[in-house]
Amino acid sequence: MAATSNENFKLENLFSVKGKVALVTGGGSGIGLMATQALAKNGAKVYITGRTEEKLDRVAELYNQNITGRIIPIPADITKKDSIVKLAQEIEAREKYLSILINNAGVSSATQTVEHEDPGALRKALFEDPSSNMEEWDRTYRTNVVQCFFTTTAFLPLLQRGSEVETGWSSTVINISSISGIVKASQHHFAYNASKAAVIHLTKMLAHEIASSNLRIRVNNIAPGVFPSEMTAGESDDKQKSAIPKEKYEQKVPARRPGKDEDMASTVLFTATNQYLNGQTIVVDGGYVLATGTI
Ligand SMILES: NC(=O)c1ccc[n+]([C@@H]2O[C@H](COP(=O)([O-])OP(=O)(O)OC[C@H]3O[C@@H](n4cnc5c(N)ncnc54)[C@H](OP(=O)(O)O)[C@@H]3O)[C@@H](O)[C@H]2O)c1
Repeated sequence: MAATSNENFKLENLFSVKGKVALVTGGGSGIGLMATQALAKNGAKVYITGRTEEKLDRVAELYNQNITGRIIPIPADITKKDSIVKLAQEIEAREKYLSILINNAGVSSATQTVEHEDPGALRKALFEDPSSNMEEWDRTYRTNVVQCFFTTTAFLPLLQRGSEVETGWSSTVINISSISGIVKASQHHFAYNASKAAVIHLTKMLAHEIASSNLRIRVNNIAPGVFPSEMTAGESDDKQKSAIPKEKYEQKVPARRPGKDEDMASTVLFTATNQYLNGQTIVVDGGYVLATGTI
């Protein structure tokens, strides 16, 4: 009979990312930086990418201190297929495998008012307003949805190798969707919310097709509520960090505050390491969806 042991239940066994190789798109600010720090502080080698080289370099310079892992910047634009190919080639040249891919890069879309009871006024706001145009929908969809598809599929061989080099580990793709893809309100940006709902469905299709191909790569998505970032705060400081006043969300979410670095970090570590999680949406929103309601 096997000896009784609680060893498997230790935190360092359950949530370890030591020695893992990760890629975080949009890792230079906001949620991508939170994910990068969570992985690198706990021993992972994390490649970060984005369009702005200085932002990535600043993150590497600031956050490579006192960590057991490493942060390595490689600039890329994930809305261009040739840029994704180049990124994959650069990482393939340096690494034998990829354990974690976080498709986090994203953009918001233009806003329109919806508070109109007159059909002509609603049409004016949603159809005639110059901010409401097809190019804006294309830009939003291309960045938020299309990149998740092409970045994931470009890295499939390297991800599969990540599962083969270590018994008990299956590599993982984590798409960053949003509660905006779940709530019924347009939040004044139809294009953004529709793109995030598409990311949630794309996650399920990729998880299904990859599993059907007998590859051992899990695909999940994290749907955050409101977290401080360049997107939500409009800027970041000299540490690449952003801030949202707590009061702004006191009445809006049961948690009575925006999300913190630690809320995202623990979600990323759980989603990356839980070997039994596949095709799922992990909502981390302080109760935002509870308060706003779904369809
Ligand atoms: N913060 C929130 O409350 C919240 C809530 C739900 C979901 N999200 C999602 O979380 C993700 C991260 O956003 P964030 O809020 O942390 O905002 P953020 O600080 O603006 O981060 C987005 C990052 O994506 C990068 N990026 C944008 N377009 C890119 C492209 N074409 N190629 C490569 N990188 C690109 C940006 O860097 P460059 O501009 O330098 O390329 C930036 O670092 C997004 O998908 C967003 O929709 C955010």
